[in-house]
Amino acid sequence: MEKIVSLAKRRGFVFQSSEIYGGAASVWDYGPLGVELRKNVADAWWSAMVHARDDIEGLDAGILMHPRVWEASGHVSGFTDPLLECKTCKKRWRADHLEEAGCPRKPSVAPGGHVDCELGEPRLFNLMFKTFMGPVEEDASVVYLRPETAQGSYVNFLNVQQTSRQRVPFGIAQLGKAFRNEITPGNFIFRTREFEQAEMQFFVKPGSDDEWFDYWLDQRLAWHHEIGIRPEKLRQHAHGPNELAHYAKTAVDIEYEFPFGWQELEGVHNRTDFDLGRHQEYSGKRLIYIDPGSGERFLPYVVETAMGVGRSALVALVDAYREEEVAGQKRVVLGLHPALAPIKAAVFPLMKKFGQPEIATELLAALRRARIPAAYDQAGSIGRRYRRQDEAGTPWCVTVDGDTAEDRSVTIRDRDTLQQERVGLDHVAGWIQDRL
Ligand code: GAP
Repeated sequence: MEKIVSLAKRRGFVFQSSEIYGGAASVWDYGPLGVELRKNVADAWWSAMVHARDDIEGLDAGILMHPRVWEASGHVSGFTDPLLECKTCKKRWRADHLEEAGCPRKPSVAPGGHVDCELGEPRLFNLMFKTFMGPVEEDASVVYLRPETAQGSYVNFLNVQQTSRQRVPFGIAQLGKAFRNEITPGNFIFRTREFEQAEMQFFVKPGSDDEWFDYWLDQRLAWHHEIGIRPEKLRQHAHGPNELAHYAKTAVDIEYEFPFGWQELEGVHNRTDFDLGRHQEYSGKRLIYIDPGSGERFLPYVVETAMGVGRSALVALVDAYREEEVAGQKRVVLGLHPALAPIKAAVFPLMKKFGQPEIATELLAALRRARIPAAYDQAGSIGRRYRRQDEAGTPWCVTVDGDTAEDRSVTIRDRDTLQQERVGLDHVAGWIQDRL
């Protein structure tokens, strides 16, 4: 992880928030390369979940919602973690995450384990951030920063269904920020207090929910493979009765093997009609679906797929990172899938003279016109320039050389195979687009 964190900072993927003030705990800023990577993950998700299908609609609900939403959803009463306070160092820990504790005194409650800290009794701590709506700070104006995007899809279920004329089964997809006042955030961007979710709520007829659950679990696993994550690093973990969230009948986590162990990357949940039922009860508004064809009436069940975009970007970084030796030289490579790579191509003039920089600049402009994120580099030896791009994850480096002016072609070098191919100047943009 240290290597990933240091590469992320060095190359402008991720910076600590408010660094010049000493940093804001567990909040991270995405730099020029990071914002592209995160956006590419989000776009790949949106394109597979919304654009490629005719049974899912998009939605972008507000982060702030009516406070009753969170009473109905069970988050006010039940979205808690057990918190332990250490009487010695005064720090607070999540009782079920003690092994991750960063306390220098290392609290431990393992059987036969050594207890350095004097830990108090666990108490329940609500993870929702509270703030006030309007100019008066009083109980009546308390609102919450949403801890999940899902509720926006439930309260808009009929709005979306009726305006899009969808029929059950269909889904609502959302990408957006969520906030949780995590007791023990950490492991870089793995667990943060502000994060982006990619969630999809699929509304189905009760009785067909188990089948749809299996379908969505398969689809989501396949998507992680499609964006290049090694299958052997992914596994499924079915929640036992003690792990299930308050809304779930069944839940399976898609886990990834991080350097700090197997951890959740995405969750697939059967939320039954819990959320729609509760919103119906708390709002007093009917959320019953009436099938336009058969006239059948029912409260749909929901199968949810829920992923953190930052967490998926972290998986992409960890999975892609490798160190290897090429012709006796060490190189660090981010073997990112081209669709996720922040920069798709880097253009180099082999020499700073003989008109090569001018041709390279024209090529760069052509790539920009084709909306291909591209970089230009003429500093240092060609080997150094390759290495800079390898560790940024750039799949292709395009070199303008002494022959280019004459034969109007350039050499494209592949980051992974190191194969070089001669391609006509006018065909470079198309060549790259065909491979994205
Ligand atoms: N709507 C259901 C829901 O929110 P979740 O398992 O609590 O389910 C879904 O969260 C996904 O959101 C997780 O699998 C993870 O990828 C991401 N996530 C949750 N908490 C996070 C945090 N504190 N920091 C970063 N990502 C988080």
